[in-house]
Amino acid sequence: MNHFLDIHTTDTADLRAIIDQAAAMKAARQGRHKGTPDDEQPLKGRMVALIFEKPSTRTRVSFDAGVRQMGGQTMVLSGSEMQLGHGETIADTARVLSRYVDLIMLRTFEESVIQEMAEYASVPVINGLTNRTHPCQIMADVLTYEEHRGPIAGKKVVWAGDGNNVCASLLHAAGQFGFDFTFTGPQPLDPENEWIRYARDKGRDVVIERDPMKAVEGADLVVTDTWVSMHDSQSTKERRHNQLRPYQVNERLMAAAKPDALFMHCLPAHREDEVTSAVMDGPQSVIWDEAENRLHAQKAVMRWCLGV
Ligand code: CP
Ligand code: NVA
Repeated sequence: MNHFLDIHTTDTADLRAIIDQAAAMKAARQGRHKGTPDDEQPLKGRMVALIFEKPSTRTRVSFDAGVRQMGGQTMVLSGSEMQLGHGETIADTARVLSRYVDLIMLRTFEESVIQEMAEYASVPVINGLTNRTHPCQIMADVLTYEEHRGPIAGKKVVWAGDGNNVCASLLHAAGQFGFDFTFTGPQPLDPENEWIRYARDKGRDVVIERDPMKAVEGADLVVTDTWVSMHDSQSTKERRHNQLRPYQVNERLMAAAKPDALFMHCLPAHREDEVTSAVMDGPQSVIWDEAENRLHAQKAVMRWCLGV
C-alpha cells in the first residue's frame, strides 16, 4: 500500500512509472466513446472516498470519472458535512473510513491534516491539494509537457506569479524529473526556501529572477496560477494584485520565451489577471490537455496506491 502525499516524498522511479502508465492508459482510451469503461477494470469492487474541505471542479470530477472508468465506485464527501468538520479528530476519521473504503483522496487546508490522515488510515491516502502542495496537478503537468514535447528532463520551466502550493509541487518535480526552474515574482511571494533547497540539492538549477522578461529567456514552459489561492485571505487581494501585475503572462512575455515554449495553468484562471485570454486561448497554450490529463495521471496514481 502506497500513500501519494507529495512528489518529493515519492520514489523517483515510481513517479516515472506512474507517468508512463498514465500515457499508456490514455492511449488505450483514445478513440473510444466517453463513458466506456476501461478494458481492464483494476478498481472493480473497490470503493473510493473523495473528501473536499475546499471547492473543486477538476479534482472532483476527474477523480470521480477516473474511478468509474476503472470499474470502481466513489463517494464524494464535503468535510463540513462530516463529523470531521465538527470536532471528530482526523485520526479517528481515518480509522473509521478505513473500515469502509479502499482509498481516500483528501483536499484540505493544513498539510498536517493529510499527514495525520495517512498516519492513521490503513488504506492509501492521496493528497488532492493542501495549502502547501498540489502533487496530482503537477503529475498531470509533466504528462502534458511530455506528450507535446518529449522528455521534460533538462528543460527550463518558468513559474510566473505567486510561489504557491502548485509552484511548490513543480519545484519538487524539478528535483524528481530533472528540469531547471526559474521563479519570477515579487520577493514576499517567493516559493518556500525549503523547496528551493530541495530542488537545488537534487542538482537542479533554481533561479529567482525579478525581471519577468529576463526570466522567460530560453524557457521551454511558462506556468502561472491564480494570484489569490483558496487558503489566502481575500483581504490580501488588492495588495497581491498590485504586487503581481508585472508578472502577468501575456503575449509579450510569451514572445520572450523560446518560440516553441508551452503555456500551462492548473485552472481555474482569472482571465486578464494572471494570464490574458490571448495566451490562454493562443497557440502555445495546452491548458485543456492539462486539465484532461488530471484524469489520466490520477488513474495511474490510484493504481500505484493500490498496487493494481
Ligand atoms: N486545478 C485544480 O485542482 O482545479 P480544481 O480546484 O477545480 O479541482
Ligand atoms: N493555488 C490554487 C490552486 C487551485 C487549484 C489554490 O490553492 O487555490
